[in-house]
Amino acid sequence: MSTNNERHAVMFIPAVLEFHPYPLPYITLSFNSAQLLQPSHPIPSHKDCTALPSSFRISSSIGRKKERKEERKMESGHFVEHLLSSRPAWLLLLSAVGFLSFLKFSFLFLNWVFVFFLRPAKNLGKYGSWAVITGSTDGIGKAFAFQLARRGIDLVLVGRNPDKLREVTSSILAKSPKVQIKNVVIDFAGDLVSGVERLKEEIRGLDVGILINNAGVSYPYAKFFHELDEETMRSIIKVNVEGTTRVTHAVIPGMVERKRGAIVNIGSGAAIVIPSDPLYAVYAASKAYIDQFSRCLHVEYKNKGIDVQCQVPLYVATKMASIRKSSFFVPSADTYARAALKHVGYEPRCTPYWPHSALWCLLSLLPESAIDNWRLGFCLNIRKKGQLKDARKKDE
Ligand SMILES: NC(=O)c1ccc[n+]([C@@H]2O[C@H](COP(=O)([O-])OP(=O)(O)OC[C@H]3O[C@@H](n4cnc5c(N)ncnc54)[C@H](OP(=O)(O)O)[C@@H]3O)[C@@H](O)[C@H]2O)c1
Repeated sequence: MSTNNERHAVMFIPAVLEFHPYPLPYITLSFNSAQLLQPSHPIPSHKDCTALPSSFRISSSIGRKKERKEERKMESGHFVEHLLSSRPAWLLLLSAVGFLSFLKFSFLFLNWVFVFFLRPAKNLGKYGSWAVITGSTDGIGKAFAFQLARRGIDLVLVGRNPDKLREVTSSILAKSPKVQIKNVVIDFAGDLVSGVERLKEEIRGLDVGILINNAGVSYPYAKFFHELDEETMRSIIKVNVEGTTRVTHAVIPGMVERKRGAIVNIGSGAAIVIPSDPLYAVYAASKAYIDQFSRCLHVEYKNKGIDVQCQVPLYVATKMASIRKSSFFVPSADTYARAALKHVGYEPRCTPYWPHSALWCLLSLLPESAIDNWRLGFCLNIRKKGQLKDARKKDE
């Protein structure tokens, strides 16, 4: 039928073009070739054509396209109908779930690429001109201090060792001479309350826009909970939990007043990425506190212009991790801090170094019991090495 229609339409067009008195651009012919074969639409003669108004469209080819489109639609409609009716319901349901999972995975992957490689970092200066960094004398905290100074942010460096604080201050000033730096000595494992009072005095009147709660301690090496000495247990809870809580409590009122600020709390993969961290129970639990503390503050303060975030590093080559050499999956403190600053002000929880994020994704695919067993074996090995080291020290 379509072949016939086409023939009539083709025959008809030259007739219109020949006899129509209007210039071509204005000639429009609105016959659909399908209509031409209907008895109610006899094929027009040359005479009929000359009577056509200029608003008629030359649409026979368009009509053909439409027709083919409709045919294809019908065919695919029948095909889908046939497909749906000939397959068992469970298979259709499974296919739908598979398709939705594929869509979800594609979206998550594209979002991951955007977050790690395309999304621009926030302008940290918009939060305020000063940053407070705890544990700024070594490792990740020290790297944060250098990176923020490079961006022209003035620094309040908090540490327990005044000599190390002075040393870090002078090396930052050698690289970024324009920044202002204040030092506050606080031993978080000591008299924390009066230390935080001193911090409050130091920051009074300063436009503190960023707080990085980084100071942290862990076990000297993996130990069963019953083997953990009183001093280590107390200092982990004081430095990691109480220190972060009290420093935040001292800094946040100024941010609320100014209606802007960013708080970065350094958590750990030990509490979030792996289901358990055997032989590091108190450390992992202290970081779980940091995670939940951050999440609650994020919700409490997001409408007050304050972005609270928990950053979740996996291994970073520092004194705490007892790893000297960096590698692809264990970045240097500097590489970590550079990645970390790009994420400030975005998600309430993130792992800013992308290979860590990829590892997190892989681990989430494994059964928890398998990760628990692997981690226990790994930590028992660390314990053995630590005990040997202790024994050697005693012998000396
Ligand atoms: N490195 C990793 O693999 C890793 C992984 C996950 C999470 N984290 C977290 O990242 C943060 C930084 O760790 P890091 O690897 O950079 O460790 P780090 O190199 O040992 O540095 C820790 C910092 O905290 C300070 N600090 C320790 N005890 C203190 C106390 N009682 N009072 C005041 N300051 C104290 C240290 O001061 P001193 O210079 O005087 O020692 C140092 O500046 C920690 O919160 C840690 O839990 C690290």
